[in-house]
Amino acid sequence: MQQEARRLLQTGKTIAFVPTMGYFHEGHLALMREGRKHGDALIVSIFVNPIQFSHSEDFKTYPGNLDRDVSLAESVGVDLIFAPDTGAMYDNAFQTYIDLEMLPGYLCGTSRPGHFRGVATVVTKLFNIIKPHAAVFGEKDYQQLVVIRRMVRDLNLDIKIIAIPTVRESDGLAMSSRNTYLSEDERRSSLSLFQALKKGQGSAAQGIKDAKQLIREASELIRAYPYTKIDYVAVCDPETLEDVDLVDRPALMALAVWVGKTRLIDNMILKPIED
Ligand code: PAF
Repeated sequence: MQQEARRLLQTGKTIAFVPTMGYFHEGHLALMREGRKHGDALIVSIFVNPIQFSHSEDFKTYPGNLDRDVSLAESVGVDLIFAPDTGAMYDNAFQTYIDLEMLPGYLCGTSRPGHFRGVATVVTKLFNIIKPHAAVFGEKDYQQLVVIRRMVRDLNLDIKIIAIPTVRESDGLAMSSRNTYLSEDERRSSLSLFQALKKGQGSAAQGIKDAKQLIREASELIRAYPYTKIDYVAVCDPETLEDVDLVDRPALMALAVWVGKTRLIDNMILKPIED
């Protein structure tokens, strides 16, 4: 892959990159379609990165279907797929990690310790291998996006980070490879995430500024659905991810909810009414 990237750069081509863990859905294809606009060559990686999963998480059972992914990627104009095996990315003596100081301390980072260290490390490795001019990430993993943007700034990586809005099913559920884990009943309850965020947006737009009240309303709505267990519901600054007390400027409402054995995340920006 490094040789191929070097060859592309030597012929004056620009490279756009979409990192993924595979098992593509419309959300991934939207990232690729966006990527297509940002480089002469579009490269997609498919790699289920072991170091961003804890022992109790779904690394071993993470869904995959490489043949299907390859044909879907081809259908949206991907030029190259990089699908390394674990040994090629991490040899036995591997010991160098990228760790951000503050951002992993919020939201998903509190219940997934080490997750963002794993993400930042693998994304840095992929950037070094693929040498892209631009890379595309989804807003669904909002904290990941903020972590990557910060890392790119902090380490002076010469890569444009492009974000695209969350792609949703027709009823509002954010697309995720993990949605395939849901039973029919759980799938119904998974709508509580979208409903809670819409409620938050509606309340903020009607003038409710108190973050605690917005969180309480959203949490009550989620708890009313069977099989749900809230990991967190937060209203925070969209850049620092620190909790805010008052939504008097745009704030991020982010949540993680267990639906049965599946942990789902979603987020939306809350906009206050103009005073
Ligand atoms: O968002 C993902 O699929 C992963 O976290 C990423 C960015 C491919 C790193 O493994």
